[in-house]
Amino acid sequence: MKSRYIVVVALVSIIYASMSVVAGDEPGKTCISCHEMITPGIVEQWKDSKHSKVGVKCIVCHGVLADEPGAIGHNQYTISPVVSPKVCGKCHPGETEEFMRSLHPLAGKYYELLYDKEKLPYLESEWPFDYQGLTEHDATLRGCQSCHGTNMSAAGPDYYSAEVWPNEGMGRINPDGTLGTCAACHTAHEFSVEEARKPEACGQCHLGPDHPQIEIYYESKHGAIYLTQGGSWNWTKDIWIAGIDYRAPTCASCHMSGVYDLDGNEKLPPTHDVSSRLSWELEPAISKRTDNTANIFGTEISDGSSWEEKRERMQMVCGQCHSPTWVNNYYQQADAAVELYNAQYTEVKKIEDELREKGYLTPESFDEPFEFKIYEFWHHEGRRARMGAFMMGPDYVQWHGFYELLRDKAELKAMADELMKGDEKPATNTPEQTPGFTALAAFLGVLLTIFILRRRGR
Ligand code: HEC
Ligand code: HEC
Ligand code: HEC
Ligand code: HEC
Ligand code: HEC
Ligand code: HEC
Ligand code: HEC
Ligand code: HEC
Repeated sequence: MKSRYIVVVALVSIIYASMSVVAGDEPGKTCISCHEMITPGIVEQWKDSKHSKVGVKCIVCHGVLADEPGAIGHNQYTISPVVSPKVCGKCHPGETEEFMRSLHPLAGKYYELLYDKEKLPYLESEWPFDYQGLTEHDATLRGCQSCHGTNMSAAGPDYYSAEVWPNEGMGRINPDGTLGTCAACHTAHEFSVEEARKPEACGQCHLGPDHPQIEIYYESKHGAIYLTQGGSWNWTKDIWIAGIDYRAPTCASCHMSGVYDLDGNEKLPPTHDVSSRLSWELEPAISKRTDNTANIFGTEISDGSSWEEKRERMQMVCGQCHSPTWVNNYYQQADAAVELYNAQYTEVKKIEDELREKGYLTPESFDEPFEFKIYEFWHHEGRRARMGAFMMGPDYVQWHGFYELLRDKAELKAMADELMKGDEKPATNTPEQTPGFTALAAFLGVLLTIFILRRRGR
């Protein structure tokens, strides 16, 4: 393992060293000596990292050939400020391949798909403006795209414009066309495993009304143990053993870390494919099993294994600290909550379908209160209930979940009744259309005309 690394580092370093000579490397003006003054924080963090200890220098990650997309001339060097997974993948091929087959690198594509076509509800899409050359699309730059990623590739050749850069969203579409950024969890320039193993690394994106995983986690017993005792755990070991190095799981332990026995023998390998232990797809309006390997883009999600196999992997994680009966029963309880939610959604969807069929809703999405309400039903309340059930957050299952679903249902029914009633109003109650009123108006009009004509005549 270690010797493979050394060979790869040596090879890559030689290639880049020769590249910088071609580019006219000026002795005395190295990346580090200059950047110690320009960006001292970066240099110090890099010195603290494992990379500095194994000779992975600035140019190894940033050095590119002049004709590569995203390359810029930089003080006699040719560099790329963006460091895509392709670069990391030269030395970390396993992690990169796993990351690539998860849903994470598709986050930017999902954002684009729904922004342009099906339209998600954000004010900006309804509210065109033009401020110093920025357009309404840019208003999501510090919102959606901070989590999902910008499309730098489409911005070429102006790869580093404020329209797309800086950005470290999970599914950033890089100048070289690759998807994603490793720095979303291991930030530059420490690239620390400890950081990524802690739940806060994930909580930057996995929070809020529609996917409050970090809030659910802090509320769970696991999170409470992490918050009270995590300070004394061993976060940096290569082989991270439940029970020895940590007492309760974090996001990473359940979704990514390996499963080992107490002697460190591997029973389930660690993975960067966060989709590979999920038996449910709990994001959509109706929860589905994860057998459906073809996603909306027609590419495979995860490794094509069945949902039962994926579930078995997660249950092996639990099995490090819990008995099979405990785990199986817990899954039964959580499955029941998901099925209950599915039934609830099916019921309110019928109301929407009927309204649409009879023409009580306009074809546009998000221009009527009913449409916001049913969106929140599945996208906010419904997700909270389902995620809470699977990650031990009782308050999210009940008060932020099923309670609000019940209230939403009552409100959706009342809205539907009102909409259907409203449509009849024009036929019966509008004054202009009442024959009596029309006759009266005509009569008064005639009187007024006669009156005016007579006054003129005087
Ligand atoms: C002579 C001084 C000097 C040298 C040598 C130098 N840099 Fe820089 N670098 C700078 C300055 C100044 C900036 C800030 C430019 C700006 O933001 O406009 C910068 C910015 C950068 C950026 C950020 C660009 C961005 O768009 O955010 C990267 C990445 C970078 N340098 C990497 C390197 C690497 C890698 C090397 C060595 C191959 C290197 N630099 C050598 C002075 C230097
Ligand atoms: C292991 C790979 C790696 C090494 C080694 C590395 N960088 Fe970076 N650097 C990155 C990544 C990743 C980013 C974030 C850009 C991105 O999201 O793609 C980055 C960003 C930067 C930026 C822009 C960030 C900012 O906050 O302005 C500068 C400047 C920079 N690096 C300079 C350096 C210097 C100087 C060194 C050497 C001391 C160095 N880098 C070593 C991977 C690396
Ligand atoms: C030239 C090869 C090379 C490149 C390119 C490279 N790395 Fe590394 N990386 C290494 C080596 C070697 C180690 C040390 C391995 C060890 O000690 O087990 C390492 C260690 C790491 C670690 C573990 C740190 C820890 O705290 O244990 C992470 C995370 C990491 N790299 C991420 C990245 C990311 C992200 C990129 C791209 C931005 C990248 N690496 C680019 C060679 C590389
Ligand atoms: C705070 C970070 C954040 C922001 C802001 C954000 N998202 Fe997300 N988004 C996420 C996370 C995390 C998930 C995955 C949730 C899950 O699996 O439970 C997600 C899921 C999605 C999905 C579902 C993808 C799938 O696999 O079906 C779409 C589509 C989406 N977001 C679009 C958007 C759009 C459009 C915006 C802006 C209106 C936006 N998001 C804003 C973090 C964010
Ligand atoms: C979703 C967050 C996340 C992203 C994105 C991510 N990592 Fe990691 N990475 C982790 C976690 C968590 C661990 C520690 C897993 C464990 O406990 O064994 C880790 C561990 C590592 C290690 C150390 C492995 C070892 O054997 O010690 C390397 C190297 C690494 N990641 C590289 C990468 C590269 C390269 C990318 C981009 C292709 C990347 N990571 C993207 C979360 C992430
Ligand atoms: C920079 C934002 C960001 C960070 C940090 C992040 N995620 Fe995500 N995550 C997302 C987005 C966005 C999605 C939805 C992606 C999609 O559907 O394409 C997602 C989806 C997921 C999924 C669902 C995958 C599936 O197949 O449905 C899991 C599980 C997940 N993330 C776990 C993690 C873990 C664990 C961490 C921390 C180690 C983490 N994420 C860090 C943004 C992030
Ligand atoms: C005790 C283990 C455990 C911990 C800790 C944990 N999760 Fe989960 N997570 C699960 C299980 C179990 C599921 C549902 C698995 C299934 O679908 O079979 C799940 C589902 C998810 C999903 C998928 C939602 C979807 O769209 O289908 C995301 C995203 C997620 N977790 C992120 C996180 C994040 C982020 C954290 C930390 C803040 C975290 N998890 C902590 C076990 C855990
Ligand atoms: C690293 C060890 C560890 C792992 C892995 C782990 N747990 Fe736990 N879990 C604990 C500890 C410690 C407690 C608190 C002691 C207790 O209640 O037995 C706990 C408590 C619980 C509880 C009781 C709290 C409650 O809200 O009802 C449930 C249920 C639970 N875990 C389910 C799971 C499931 C399901 C998984 C796998 C997806 C899992 N755990 C993974 C250590 C772990």
